[in-house]
Amino acid sequence: PMTVEASDLPTCLLCVCLTGSVYCEEVSPDMTTVPALPKETAYLYARFNKIQKIGNKDFADILTLKRIDLTGNIISEIEDGAFSKLSLLEELSLAENRLVKLPMLPAKLTTFNANFNRLKTKGVKANAFKKLSKLSNLYLSDNQLEAVPHIPENVRTLHLQNNNISDVSVDTFCRSNDTYYLRPRLTEIRLDGNPVVLSKNPDTFTCLNVLPVGQYRR
Ligand SMILES: *[C@@H]1O[C@H](CO)[C@@H](O)[C@H](O)[C@H]1NC(C)=O
Ligand SMILES: *[C@@H]1O[C@H](CO)[C@@H](O)[C@H](O)[C@H]1NC(C)=O
Repeated sequence: PMTVEASDLPTCLLCVCLTGSVYCEEVSPDMTTVPALPKETAYLYARFNKIQKIGNKDFADILTLKRIDLTGNIISEIEDGAFSKLSLLEELSLAENRLVKLPMLPAKLTTFNANFNRLKTKGVKANAFKKLSKLSNLYLSDNQLEAVPHIPENVRTLHLQNNNISDVSVDTFCRSNDTYYLRPRLTEIRLDGNPVVLSKNPDTFTCLNVLPVGQYRR
């Protein structure tokens, strides 16, 4: 018997398309690639499918995207330019996938979620988030990171719990060359479930209003 592949069917028969939004959640038959999107799609919800890979062409023609949610797929590879041209993209979730490294991220992101992946330090460049001046929520919990990347100025919520971070320093959040520097926006930092002992260097958190959650005694 012939099997029906999801990629053979027009997206809006498999998924629910409403003005500007496409909902493709737990699609049956299994959806293994990003579906072709209607022009001017702004919101794509493609959670809990079997998407394996994101290519540079998948979103190349849909520059109207503001939110992409790919939570709970089996994505292990993303081509470096897959999201970089999406200049309106504000929210991107890649949570609960199999990523070991991150692609380039577009400049207007406010929320980025890559919780529950397999991210390694060498797959998340120290400056991966540096240019994201609007970034407010950064979720990187439950990965295999051994270092804290550069955290841009406007971040409010930072989740790094359940990684393998063994060290933080004055320059992780504050500035060793500027004792007047303050970072009042950053009010939620999760570092619990990491080997780092946060009381090691008392100057590490002097620019913050709130101490990170984590281990203070060995
Ligand atoms: C955690 O990091 C240490 C080095 O700091 C390394 O030796 C160890 O293998 C890492 N553990 C895991 C589970 O990756
Ligand atoms: C502190 O060092 C950073 C680079 O590490 C530099 O951009 C900044 O201008 C320096 N600030 C002061 C007050 O020297």
